[in-house]
Amino acid sequence: MPPRRPLTAGFDFMMTPQQYLIEHQARHIGQLCDYLRLPSVSAQASHREDVGRCAAWIEAHCREIGLNTELHPTRGHPIVLARTPRRPGRRPHFLVYGHYDVQPPEPIELWASPPFEPRVEGHSLFARGASDNKGQHFAHLKAVEAVLATGGELPCDLTFLIEGEEEVGSANLVPFLKQHRKSLRCDAVVISDTGMPARTLPALTYALRGIAALEVIVRGPSRDLHSGIFGGSLDNPAMALARMLAALRDRRGRITVPGFYDQVRPLTRNERRQLARLPFNERSYARFLGVPKLFGEAGFTAWEQRSARPTLEVNGLTSGYQGEGSKTIVPAAASAKLTMRLVPDQSPDVIARLVARHLKSICPPTVRLETRAGHGGLPYLLEPDTSLARAAMRTLELAFGYAPVLLREGGSIPIVTDFKRVLGADTLLLGLALPDDNAHSPNEKFDLRNFAAGARLGTLLWPELAGALAA
Ligand code: BES
Ligand code: ZN
Repeated sequence: MPPRRPLTAGFDFMMTPQQYLIEHQARHIGQLCDYLRLPSVSAQASHREDVGRCAAWIEAHCREIGLNTELHPTRGHPIVLARTPRRPGRRPHFLVYGHYDVQPPEPIELWASPPFEPRVEGHSLFARGASDNKGQHFAHLKAVEAVLATGGELPCDLTFLIEGEEEVGSANLVPFLKQHRKSLRCDAVVISDTGMPARTLPALTYALRGIAALEVIVRGPSRDLHSGIFGGSLDNPAMALARMLAALRDRRGRITVPGFYDQVRPLTRNERRQLARLPFNERSYARFLGVPKLFGEAGFTAWEQRSARPTLEVNGLTSGYQGEGSKTIVPAAASAKLTMRLVPDQSPDVIARLVARHLKSICPPTVRLETRAGHGGLPYLLEPDTSLARAAMRTLELAFGYAPVLLREGGSIPIVTDFKRVLGADTLLLGLALPDDNAHSPNEKFDLRNFAAGARLGTLLWPELAGALAA
């Protein structure tokens, strides 16, 4: 759809985009709060309509700030495209990716205020999705609004692609990319959906881990049984599963699945040196996480363990009676949700198969085992010494006022490898989230100073990137 109306009042033409951002900051925060009030939880069917409403909201908002928008339904949640008004001639084209879906807010009772009633306290804006990822891509939208509203001219074409299924594996985005390959072809993708180590340490993330999800179900008796009458004469599925899961990792933090590390590309000496320069204090890190002591794969630092080494985690574990009081049963089944985080050159299919096969091999004959492979994503690694990456680093310094670092991160954004495969484009990951933003946790927040810096970044970035392409 074409934009509804030009947004600007005349006097905004007298300002720079940066002045405009300062002038309109309170209004922009209010709009972000409106966006955050929509509970776009992609994982929960009960929120299906809310997710659709959220897509419509952000599409309308993009139109209001002067972009040409399209709302594309999929088999799952809609995809929003928003383009800056096109100019004649061949110009650089950048894609800005973000996701309007959010993680489930549970456990709700651990939130200091309701997750979908945004609350500002000091420099923090609390709400589910504040930093992951509504606040981060909203900053880029506000930057483009600022440029357009002040009569500035972008040196390139921009397409915002905002999807609603990132938190559940982006299943419908890959076919969409293929279908729209021509209009989405671009010189690079820019994503702000990662983090920075501190407010004084902006970062270009050049690697992300991949992921492979696997559900494990162990079945015992045909029904829950009285544990007094029958207990002792049959295996307990919860205990069988617990034994199997515990055996997946040794005491030195190594995953015991045969072949698990075969495709792992070792860290270079240079990377290890870079990572060792990042600030780290074991005691305060443990305190920040709330654990009595850290644990990880022996021989690697915590930064390496959490960003550049593969892992296997239990994300959920269920069996038997979970309600109030006690219930004396041998449960009929037990199940666990696992994810493995992957590094180059591991493949999600291979790893899911290896783990499933290993579980089968250690499953006792007293229970039955079922495994179901879930979503998967390849790890991402970008050569950080390109002219585009250097231009991004320069812009980070301008926007934040601090020298940036190069980072590998442990989270996953599986679509970035598809951007490369389908569109031929590298992705620049310029994260605005802080370590204590509580992504996926209760009390998620976004630092409003990073919202401002992110918007500033968005006003400065496009000339720098376009210039880097021209050079
Ligand atoms: N924003 C995160 C990814 C992220 C966070 C990358 C911090 C690097 C640093 C994203 O929204 C996310 O949570 N992705 C999922 C992907 C999964 C569901 C396929 C993840 O990493 O768990
Ligand atoms: Zn997330």
